[in-house]
Order: sequence, then C-alpha cells, then structure tokens
Amino acid sequence: MIRSHQAPAPSYRGASAHYLSPSRRDPVKVLSEEPVTRRVIGAALAAIGRTGPGPVSVLDIGAGTADGFALLTRPAPDAPPLVAPENLTYVGLDVDPEMVRTARVTVTSPSASFVLGDVRDRLPEGAFDLYLSCGVPYSHLTRDELVVALRSVLTAVATRGRRAAVVVDVLGRYSVEWRPRWDSERWDYAMSFFAGGGAAISEPMTFYSRPALDAVVDAAGEGSGARIVARSAVDRSVLVGRHTATGTFNPDAPRFRTLVNDLVREPGRVRAADLRFSPATDGAPADVLSWLAGFAGRWNRTLEPYTGSGPLDGAAAARLAHALLGLERAGGPGLGVGHSLTMTLVVEPA
Ligand SMILES: C[S@@+](CC[C@H](N)C(=O)[O-])C[C@H]1O[C@@H](n2cnc3c(N)ncnc32)[C@H](O)[C@@H]1O
Repeated sequence: MIRSHQAPAPSYRGASAHYLSPSRRDPVKVLSEEPVTRRVIGAALAAIGRTGPGPVSVLDIGAGTADGFALLTRPAPDAPPLVAPENLTYVGLDVDPEMVRTARVTVTSPSASFVLGDVRDRLPEGAFDLYLSCGVPYSHLTRDELVVALRSVLTAVATRGRRAAVVVDVLGRYSVEWRPRWDSERWDYAMSFFAGGGAAISEPMTFYSRPALDAVVDAAGEGSGARIVARSAVDRSVLVGRHTATGTFNPDAPRFRTLVNDLVREPGRVRAADLRFSPATDGAPADVLSWLAGFAGRWNRTLEPYTGSGPLDGAAAARLAHALLGLERAGGPGLGVGHSLTMTLVVEPA
C-alpha cells in the first residue's frame, strides 16, 4: 500500500560516514548511552521469554547503519552478547538508500539482512519477536503518522499470534539541549553533529512528553487486534545528549557532553565547577521540573568534592566521570526529560 505522507521521507545523504566514524563512539556513548539501550533491549527480550539459547527474530525499524545489530550481538565488558549471532535473525528496515547500502556492506553476518522501505508504508514480511528502534527514527514521523506506523506493528503482532516486544524510541520534549523550544512539539532539528563529508541535515522532528507518547500508543492500539500487557519507559542522556556538545539550540547550557568526554580523555581541561547544572524552573509540567530539580541535586552534589580548585588530576577526573556517567546510566523515569524517550511495550494478540 502506498500512502501519501504529511512529512517527506528524511534524507541522510552523506550521513553514513558520521554513523560509521569511530569518533561517534565517544566515552558518553560507550559508557552511558549504549549500556542504557542494551538494558532496554535485554529487559524487552526477558519480558517475552527470549533470553535463553533459542532463536530470536528482530525487526530494527530505522536501522541506519545497524547500531541495533551491534547492540544485540556485541558483548559488553562484563556480559556476553544479548543474542548469539547464530540464534539471531535480524532485519534492518530503512527509508534511506545510502544507509541501506552502507549497512549491507558493513554488516556481512548471515544473520542480518536489510530492506529499503518506509515504515509508514509497510513492514517487511516475517514474524518478529522484537520490533526494535534506536536512534529516535520514529521522531521523523508526525504524531499521526506514528499512530499509523505503530498500529501496523501491533497488527503484525496480532496476526502472528504470539507475544512480542516493541521498543519505541523518540526525542524527549524536555531535554536541556533544546530548553528554548520546549513550547513546541515539532520543529526543524539540525543534526549538526554529523562529521565527515555530509553537510548538516535539517529535518522537522517530533518531540515527546510522556503523556503525548502514551496517547499515541493508546491510539495505535485501537483496532490493532493486539493488547498491550506492559509498558515502561526511560529517559536516556539527561544532560549529555549530543546537542549539549554543539550548543545549537541552547547555547546557554554548559557543554556537558564535551566536558564529560574530556573528563575521560583530557582531564586537564576540565574544572568540575563548569559542570554545574541549574535546572529550569518553568516552561514544563510540574512533574518534569520536579524530577529535573532532583537530578540537579544529585548531579551537583556529585561535583562538590571536586570543585575546590582548578583543573582535575587524572585519578580525580576518572572518579568524577564514573560517578556522573553512573547517574546518566540510571536514566530518567520516562518523562521526556532526556535526549531520547524510549518506551517498551509487551504486546499480545487480543
Ligand atoms: C538517527 S538514525 C538512527 C539509525 C540507527 N538506528 C542508530 O541507532 O544509529 C534514524 C534512521 O531512521 C531512518 N528513518 C527515518 N524515517 C524513516 C521511515 N519513515 N521509515 C524507515 N526509516 C526511517 C533514517 O533514514 C535513519 O537512518
């Protein structure tokens, strides 16, 4: 079925270089973002009884250059892969031909295949245990388009006749990265952190509060033939989203991501006092402001022992980085207070 869409398909022309660049896996990504997403995927697989040695099938929606495949199959420093490659059937769906081409060249495992297509049109054939998304692909869609796309995912689960997990990854509305834009749900988002070859890409994206995402999920469930038996959410990257390194949308915020990365890589450059966080006191719902105030308390108390003098020595910087990244790894409660808001649904045929 070909639908006419409100939003044109995004173009990531020139962006695959960024996605494959080793510099993209900075300390924040490796030590905080990937562990959070890995935890989300692990919990999703556990909820559908797919943590054992048996086969697991995954559809990665908006797969890009297949970060999802790496998250599933790369061991963590302290844990084996979530799924052994020989047990995995992984299909990556992406609307951008360059991403699909790059993914096919980069991931040559026989477990993986890649399909060029728009999630707003149709899903690849096949029965999947996990309908994954990571790197906020669903935020490219308008709210109404997300309802339709998620309904088609839920209908696929209903048709298949077995329990499945659905991970819905979108941009958080109330990230400190875009504090001046909190009053608006959809706006032009410059991905100016792209490195290597590609020009900065500007696309309209949709940003979600928890109630807005809950409403989308509820609407998607109606008439899908599936029922949602469990729902949970987490905020990832509360202060260290990529746009705290660029300052593009909130130039007044400290460059938290750069500073935390420097604590790990170039500690002599960092003064702990530069990392102090003053949370917003208006412009967002009361539960968001109150959670951010609590997070600021924990973050700033962590800094206190280190704020006395100038730049930190290596050992002190390592301890501070560990503590701050620990706060980030804990994540937020799924209110839309981080760079991404990731919701996991456990779904069964009704
Ligand atoms: C920010 S990238 C994330 C890629 C990858 N999942 C990751 O975590 O690195 C978002 C991806 O979603 C894809 N995408 C956006 N809209 C889509 C649509 N309507 N259907 C399928 N893929 C889409 C884009 O082409 C892009 O590759």
